[in-house]
Amino acid sequence: MVPAYLDIGIQSRMNRIINPKDNRVVMLAIDHPYFQGPTTGLRNMSKTIKTLLPYCDCLMTTRGAVRSNIAPEDVGSKPIMLRVTGGNSVLNEELSDEKITVTIQEAIRMDAAGVAISVYIGSANQQQTILNLTDMINQAEECGIPVLAVTAVGKNMARDLRYLALASRICQDAGARIIKTYYCEEFSRVVDSVSPTAVVVAGGKYSSPPDALQMAYHSVQAGAAGVDFGRNIFQDDNPIGMIKAISSIVHGNHTVKEALDIYNACLPGASRLD
Ligand code: 5RP
Repeated sequence: MVPAYLDIGIQSRMNRIINPKDNRVVMLAIDHPYFQGPTTGLRNMSKTIKTLLPYCDCLMTTRGAVRSNIAPEDVGSKPIMLRVTGGNSVLNEELSDEKITVTIQEAIRMDAAGVAISVYIGSANQQQTILNLTDMINQAEECGIPVLAVTAVGKNMARDLRYLALASRICQDAGARIIKTYYCEEFSRVVDSVSPTAVVVAGGKYSSPPDALQMAYHSVQAGAAGVDFGRNIFQDDNPIGMIKAISSIVHGNHTVKEALDIYNACLPGASRLD
């Protein structure tokens, strides 16, 4: 049913990010250097993008990465979820000290499909990061650009249902159109607590193909719109096999075993990314 009034700009970009045919998305997170610097798998960012771009639905990355590392012929081939907060580094004890780093005009100029902001609930900079989110939502919504809120988890926070539901709900109430959070036990309760806002799941540190695929499987079974995985894809020995396997779970409702078969079929000739 067509609603009486559609926010066309927002809906158009949401449709580029999350496939409207199945309401699912495989987003590839490659924004790590904004606070980690050189990152295994992203040292040769151009190669990583060239290798994995065909298999993701959307690329979550930074202004510098878009400008410097997407081959001219690939520009526009996949929607960009542009990270627009930063200002911290791994050398800081407190990672939450982030501010908005990219203007909405720049996001428009770069044809971003959406903009991503980290929020650190319970941290020393909680208010600052929530106001980063609300300020950007105020500007981005005027321009028809959806905002993705990342529930970043500080060192002292537990990645459990109570915390993630709290953080996700605060992001939804601020007006985020998509929420990126972490998987936890009883994850469907996190998804339910922000329904109907779309939820994508971060992968976290590199684990193993079966563990990462299990996480993707349980996330979508719990109602997530998909994943926004990074290290579990680009740090794997078989990155193309991994992203294809994840996509088969997210878009094809494959089981973990079926997805592992896809992963294994890509193993011969697979090579690591620098
Ligand atoms: C950090 C981020 C990163 O993009 C994301 O969480 C990293 O992805 P992964 O954990 O799967 O490597 O938003 O706040």
